[in-house]
Amino acid sequence: MMLFDHIWLFLSGLGTYLVIRSIYRVFFHPLRKIPGPKLVAITNGVEFYYNIIRNGMYIFEIEKMHQIYGPIVRVAPNEVHVIDPYFYDEIYAPSSRRRDKSSRVVPATGVMGSMIATISHDHHRIRRAVLSEFFSRRSILNMMPIIDRFLEKLCDRLGQFHETKTPVRLDNVLNAFTSDIITEYCYGSSWGFLEDEHFRSDTRAALLETANTIHIGEFAPWLIALLRKVPVHVLRRLQPGRAAIFEAMEAVYKQAASSLKHQSGDYREREKASSQVPQNMFDKLLAPDVPASERSLERLQDEGLVVLGAGTETVAHTLTVSTFYLCTNRSVLIRLREELRQVLPTPTSSASLLELEKLPYLTAVIYESLRLAYGPVVRMPRVAPTETLRYGECLIPPGTPMSATTYFIHRDPNLFPNPDKFDPERWLQGARSEELKRYIVNFTKGSRGCLGITLAYAEIYKAIAGLVRRFDFELHDTTMEDMKIV
Ligand code: HEM
Repeated sequence: MMLFDHIWLFLSGLGTYLVIRSIYRVFFHPLRKIPGPKLVAITNGVEFYYNIIRNGMYIFEIEKMHQIYGPIVRVAPNEVHVIDPYFYDEIYAPSSRRRDKSSRVVPATGVMGSMIATISHDHHRIRRAVLSEFFSRRSILNMMPIIDRFLEKLCDRLGQFHETKTPVRLDNVLNAFTSDIITEYCYGSSWGFLEDEHFRSDTRAALLETANTIHIGEFAPWLIALLRKVPVHVLRRLQPGRAAIFEAMEAVYKQAASSLKHQSGDYREREKASSQVPQNMFDKLLAPDVPASERSLERLQDEGLVVLGAGTETVAHTLTVSTFYLCTNRSVLIRLREELRQVLPTPTSSASLLELEKLPYLTAVIYESLRLAYGPVVRMPRVAPTETLRYGECLIPPGTPMSATTYFIHRDPNLFPNPDKFDPERWLQGARSEELKRYIVNFTKGSRGCLGITLAYAEIYKAIAGLVRRFDFELHDTTMEDMKIV
């Protein structure tokens, strides 16, 4: 046979396969009755085009599809998206209802040993239980001195910029604040972000760049798996521009390895001493009651990386968005500062978290900041492995990845009229506002929702109160355009 014949045979075989698969997906697939474009039902190519070639624009196509096809849409051959906020809790359900993660999506995270990337509901429950006490309300109230210490440092650094009348990039500074807190609390010692002349902003830049590759990972999970196998020093040589992230990875790996080495006999001793020396996250992951199979190096490394990725830029971004809107809404800023005087009589006074949480206007500003900060705007599908869900006439069969996107919920004009407006008054309407809080979903909800939510709120309350009471801000080279999700 000639080479040409081989190619022809291959192409006609492939063509036949694709035609049969397309017919199946449109006419026989369990999702055939879910509304949506036929091309999207047939191929992931549409998502590939918008998310890879057009750099993450599929979210806006999904918005258009909902305008045409209604509140439930088949957004991939095997995935549905529901824009109706009242259905949110069905998808992101509490642990009494089993929710797996999508095996198509999680490999893109590259941290398969972590709880965030654990596919099965049951396995996830085991992993989450190990760390839930570490991030509980009680533990966070105990670690408040860490937040207070870094808030003091943050204010000192900002004071220096104020003295020399030099503009400063708040997004970098706030990321340094949250990164110092996470490294100190989770790893046991801070990595000195606030002390660094440039706030170690190269680490932030490299982390953001890596996060931007998430869509590529969804289509080429093998590439992510391969990259994780390459030693860090080799990666550093291959990508010198992202050295900062490899240094961070190396530091986490080193600590994971050393914690694993020292785990065994002396755990009880350390537990005894823990009233003086607080235990870090690795101590929790290595506790003797954790199943041995869960005390692997990969697990420690991956969970170590997750807290750095999930617990720093997320909070810093919310704070950045908040300061932007406070700068552009002077009357809100003045009213907030007035309220803060009740518990912070002088600019350098300090107040407890409990005192701050009782302030209605501060709380309103925080909810409105969270609303417009959105949190992650990628789809974060959940899978009900054994349950059939019903949305109106549509049945969603077990095993189907289902998602709802925070960006759409937070901009739903029925819940939040004039959604582009920063309006803390929305949160001061008594029972209606309490009801609206259900639809603030930056952290998602349910069994797979954010484990660091209490820490996040504590940092946000403390930082907004401290910064607003002590400083005045004005924008420099920053406009509304910089706040937009693009
Ligand atoms: C405003 C701040 C934050 C936002 C918007 C946020 C958002 C989220 C979201 C949306 C998820 C679910 C991800 C998914 O479905 O795949 C998540 C999970 C998680 N977050 Fe956060 N997060 C924030 C702060 C934090 C902080 C401070 C920490 C502390 C380390 C943290 C640690 C985690 C962890 C460990 C998970 C995985 C939970 C699990 O899989 O059970 N997050 N976060």
